[in-house]
Amino acid sequence: MSVVTELEEQRVLALSAIEAAEDLSALDGVRVAYLGKKGSLTGVLRGLGSLSADERPAAGKAANEVRVAIEAALEARHAVLAASALEARVASEAVDVTLPGRSRPVGSRHLINRLTSEICEIFLGLGYRIAEGPEVELDYYNFTALNTPADHPARSLADTFYVRDLSGDEADVAGESDVLLRTQTSPVQIRTMEKNEPPIYILSPGRVYRRDIADPSHLPQFTQVEGLVVDEGITFADLKGTLEHFAREVFGPDRKTRFRPHFFPFTEPSAEVDVSCGICGGEGCRFCKGTGWIEILGCGMVDPNVFGYVGIDPERYTGFAFGMGVERIACLKYNVPDLRMLVDGDMRFLRQF
Ligand code: DAH
Repeated sequence: MSVVTELEEQRVLALSAIEAAEDLSALDGVRVAYLGKKGSLTGVLRGLGSLSADERPAAGKAANEVRVAIEAALEARHAVLAASALEARVASEAVDVTLPGRSRPVGSRHLINRLTSEICEIFLGLGYRIAEGPEVELDYYNFTALNTPADHPARSLADTFYVRDLSGDEADVAGESDVLLRTQTSPVQIRTMEKNEPPIYILSPGRVYRRDIADPSHLPQFTQVEGLVVDEGITFADLKGTLEHFAREVFGPDRKTRFRPHFFPFTEPSAEVDVSCGICGGEGCRFCKGTGWIEILGCGMVDPNVFGYVGIDPERYTGFAFGMGVERIACLKYNVPDLRMLVDGDMRFLRQF
């Protein structure tokens, strides 16, 4: 077979193989088979050197034409296959923008933490600052310096968690330890007054602990917010105005407040504050036990004896203090019927609402 015929045959075979290639990798296979180093056309081209001088020009020309034709066909087919590959990819990766999105559950801060911040904000707006103290506290700060006598029932083992040091030789006997889990945030008052000169305007949020069995109105661990003001000329009227403002901010302008005489060791006089019942509007219902009122906090004027423990001159300064349970306020504000629901891990308290 002459070289020219052989080249012609290569052209026909190559072109039909190119046409038959169904994707880019098959097409590349065809290119290698004909034009690659060991390709069949390359083989024919190599053979040209050994042709006689008369045959060479015609064969060389034909060889060139065949190579150009094959290259052109490869290029054209490449364009077609690349376009359809792209089309297939676009089709397979298409996003249907009309489908509804997948929503991910959004968490939020627990009701108690949010309400604690909300309460703090009200007082920060009045110029108070936040003060914190330890949850593992000394008996001195939790009771003694708060004018709570040694025989006060709150100190009993039945009410207070005492912390025993088991590492030492002389392990404390329960109840005789002077380290305890604070039963109230009031010790922060003492720690603050020890370190700071009046004027003092502080708010102290934090966890407190009591030996109570959990029931609808008790938890062994809960959150309190304590307030303390010490300045010249502070009167019960300041206390009343401040707490009335607080109650309106938390419960809304329609709720009424009242002050009832009470006793706390660290304040004199002392009072409890009630707000009108949000369920019955003050008419009297089961929630407020028929009274129309619900207690929200304890308060009073700082007892001069307490000033004695921290070296503040009671002739020059007076002050007021108050303390409230955040879980209790949450129940009243959001009509949660049982304190335990707040700590049961109910996800509804963590959803946005
Ligand atoms: N510490 C009190 C309690 O846990 C609440 C309280 C009452 C705090 C009167 C005060 C106060 O600062 O003045 O029941």
